[in-house]
Amino acid sequence: MPKTPETSTVSALLDLATRRLRGAGVPSARLDARVLLGHAMRVNPASLLPGSTRVVEASQAAEYAGLIDRRLLRTPVSHLTGSREFYGRPFHVTPDVLDPRADSECVVEMALACLPADRASRILDLGTGTGCLLLTLLAERVLASGTGIDVSDAALAVARGNATALGLADRAAFQVGNWLDGITGQFDLVISNPPYIPAAEIPLLQPEVRDHEPRLALVGGDDGLDPYRHICPELGARLAPDGVAVFEFGMGQARQVAAIAQASGLVSVQTVRDLGGIERGITLKSAVPA
Ligand SMILES: C[S@@+](CC[C@H](N)C(=O)[O-])C[C@H]1O[C@@H](n2cnc3c(N)ncnc32)[C@H](O)[C@@H]1O
Repeated sequence: MPKTPETSTVSALLDLATRRLRGAGVPSARLDARVLLGHAMRVNPASLLPGSTRVVEASQAAEYAGLIDRRLLRTPVSHLTGSREFYGRPFHVTPDVLDPRADSECVVEMALACLPADRASRILDLGTGTGCLLLTLLAERVLASGTGIDVSDAALAVARGNATALGLADRAAFQVGNWLDGITGQFDLVISNPPYIPAAEIPLLQPEVRDHEPRLALVGGDDGLDPYRHICPELGARLAPDGVAVFEFGMGQARQVAAIAQASGLVSVQTVRDLGGIERGITLKSAVPA
């Protein structure tokens, strides 16, 4: 029997890929090497143990080499696998949408605290992207229904696909639009993770974000706060009498977002910190409920 080449074992492929990624300065090289090998082999990456002598089929090894080449160009892992887990659920990700961030999970927690499980709450998600915020809330609150707005048709196609894949399409609607423009009716929760990076900071971002994620999902004008200035003045009219708004924002923007909200007749209820201890989300309500 011909001897199996050492280079086609899980262990050898993982070691080689890790060395290449690390050498090119790719962060989390070992983890990425493992996730991508799992993807190429269609197995759970957790099952790929470091010293494994399991042989990788030639076609899968070739696919893996291609994935590593693209990762060396700093293509995000989620673009290579087509998926990102958010709040315990898989979301399809393409270059048309923001890769859902673990930091946003604290905003979901904040929103859930405002949504009683026994109420048929109406939710509006502004800048829905993958739909990760809206769809997570609908999955966690089975009586709720909601609408996701995005200015990008391509993003909405991804969000619709995710709604179907998660079995939530009957409670989720998606509509193209510019923030609250043309939106009627009132909502128990308005949630948004708008683009909030100041334009001048884009060149400083890591290549995965700067070169591969949509600018539309990143840039919030010169100071990153344009979306809040656009949304807040319209918000009071869209909140139900005991409705709340939950916004994500960038590092150091808490005071400015609260000030913009206050100037629009809203009051800050509380803020929340993300896993890294950075202030990341704010809950607002109308100073004078409609
Ligand atoms: C930071 S991403 C957030 C995506 C998703 N909600 C999440 O948390 O991962 C912002 C989203 O806002 C959308 N967006 C940008 N400008 C918009 C506008 N004027 N009106 C509606 N959506 C907009 C972008 O297309 C993008 O999907």
